[in-house]
Amino acid sequence: MIVVKAGGRALAQNLDNIARSIARRASVGMKVIFVHGGGDLVSEYERRMNIEPRFVISPQGIRSRYTDEAELEVFVMVMAGKLNKEIVSRLQKYGTGAIGISGADGGFLRAERKKKIVIMDERGRPRAIPGGYTGRIIDVNTGVAEKLLDSFHVLVVAPIALGTECELLNVDADQAAAKISMSLRAEKLLVLTDVEGVVVGGKILDKMSAGDAEKLQSKIGVGMNRKVMMCCEAVKSGVGEAIISTGLIDDPLEALEREIGTRIKS
Ligand SMILES: Nc1ncnc2c1ncn2[C@@H]1O[C@H](COP(=O)(O)OP(=O)(O)OP(=O)(O)O)[C@@H](O)[C@H]1O
Ligand SMILES: [Mg+2]
Repeated sequence: MIVVKAGGRALAQNLDNIARSIARRASVGMKVIFVHGGGDLVSEYERRMNIEPRFVISPQGIRSRYTDEAELEVFVMVMAGKLNKEIVSRLQKYGTGAIGISGADGGFLRAERKKKIVIMDERGRPRAIPGGYTGRIIDVNTGVAEKLLDSFHVLVVAPIALGTECELLNVDADQAAAKISMSLRAEKLLVLTDVEGVVVGGKILDKMSAGDAEKLQSKIGVGMNRKVMMCCEAVKSGVGEAIISTGLIDDPLEALEREIGTRIKS
């Protein structure tokens, strides 16, 4: 079993090839949990509903969407609705038995709502603000995925979790993919994005250890830093290999078989 995550921009530009690439592996017996991002599409629909999307940056340089009550509604509609079902329909088109859920379905993903978050304000000073409807994943119900993967080749997961009071929460898709890969002891975690891999000093790193990655963290920018952090956590807790690679090519899953992208091992 492998876990594949694709970001919103890779999906917007290349969903058809990504779906075909997954379908090709599923047809020879590979089981895939496919976690999708889709922040840009959420922003687009927020604007259509006259809501201006907001982003915050933590003191560690991690960027997140800020989700208040109105934004959560759009997040759930777009992620668990439109995007999740478009991905399922594309996989079905290529002959793959696929089922799409959000992390709330069956209680698959549980998260702890962030009461306060610390952000950097306009003057670059840390400030605590209410956390809104975002959560940190604390539990993955492996039985849900195992049962669904008994019946379907691909499980498509929207990055939404249930909070401790069963409220819907926006969770980060990179984090969701990593936590799922760890809990289900996936062979590999493949993170598809809109660049070819992790760039340090102008070059794509073909491999790194979790230790190297921690030392390089300050040289890696917004967006990628979170992926590297989550990949390290995954390989340190038993996932065989994490790969960050492009989702923009004809056959993005060839990163599982060929040495492209950045490969992270413990
Ligand atoms: N050192 C780096 N190497 C490679 N990419 C980097 C680096 N630092 C920052 N980035 C940026 O990280 C981005 C990828 O992360 P980003 O969060 O934007 O995409 P995603 O997670 O694939 O999509 P989404 O967040 O919409 O789900 C790249 O487009 C690149 O601009
Ligand atoms: Mg991202």
